[in-house]
Amino acid sequence: MFATVLSHQNSSHTNALPQDLFGAIADLKRELKAVILAHYYQDPDIQDIADYIGDSLGLSQQAAATNADVIVFAGVHFMAETAKILNPHKLVLLPDLEAGCSLADSCPPQAFAEFKAAHPGHLVVSYINCTAEIKAMSDIICTSSNAVNIVKQIPADQPIIFAPDRNLGRYVMEQTGRDLVLWQGSCMVHETFSERKLVELQIQHPEAEVIAHPECEPALLRHARYIGSTTALLNYAQMSASQAFIVATEPGIIHQMQKAKPNKQFIPAPPMNQCACNECPHMRLNTLEKLYLCMKTRQPEITLPEPIQAAALRPIQRMLEMSA
Ligand code: 13P
Ligand code: SF4
Repeated sequence: MFATVLSHQNSSHTNALPQDLFGAIADLKRELKAVILAHYYQDPDIQDIADYIGDSLGLSQQAAATNADVIVFAGVHFMAETAKILNPHKLVLLPDLEAGCSLADSCPPQAFAEFKAAHPGHLVVSYINCTAEIKAMSDIICTSSNAVNIVKQIPADQPIIFAPDRNLGRYVMEQTGRDLVLWQGSCMVHETFSERKLVELQIQHPEAEVIAHPECEPALLRHARYIGSTTALLNYAQMSASQAFIVATEPGIIHQMQKAKPNKQFIPAPPMNQCACNECPHMRLNTLEKLYLCMKTRQPEITLPEPIQAAALRPIQRMLEMSA
């Protein structure tokens, strides 16, 4: 761990990690007039120190509304990039610049430009899990919590490209009855769940409700009693009368579920192998130490070319308007 922290830094004050990281981060937050925004897939320690924890939509709304001078984004690159697009004049920090996203990576800008050109007259609705370049080529951004609602607001005769997640796209098609042209991208974490092991787990826990994120594959989703974004899953787990749940999304969310309902049981859906590969390797690159160091050194900072930033802002603003 310490070696990773050191390699993240190249300045001399790296070896002085304070004993009380929580206290030191709170001090830096006041000094910088910073807000810490964290996704549910972050380590519990990071969730516990954040000013706001949420899903991608909630985090974008917070980023759009904040009056902090500095945004510290405990999440992955496309999330921090979205915060920067919404706040071009603010300092936006990401604890580890390598915290990317396999789904965003599955949609390279040049290939997507060709795909778009091959489908003239199509409106482009892109899932927020994409790069700023893809956002700049899109008409409307959506997240897992508003994708169905946004597509429903588009006139029925308007052809639509949906990118980059084919699983969320298929789910939206089912929910809206619309025929979408799908980019064939996916999330390495949500595709790792094993349907066979899930069924075995259901046999062991017949009382447990399966709840799933729409980034999961259709074979897994058909076992789910409830499908929704991370915030929606958290809300459902609290209001459902069930006392046990099998949770088919990144297990970081279970920290908040367990805090909200300590007497309920939350069982992570099993991956194919005996590994922790249902933990997002990108999200988990951020650590409390790196969070402290990025605030101390004010780097790594998210920067974007101005034309991309301006072009990517419009579809994000449309999403925020259409979700109000
Ligand atoms: P939500 O934040 O919309 O639930 O999506 C989960 C996810 O995979 C974020 O990377
Ligand atoms: Fe990307 Fe999947 Fe990780 Fe979310 S969980 S950041 S979609 S790789």
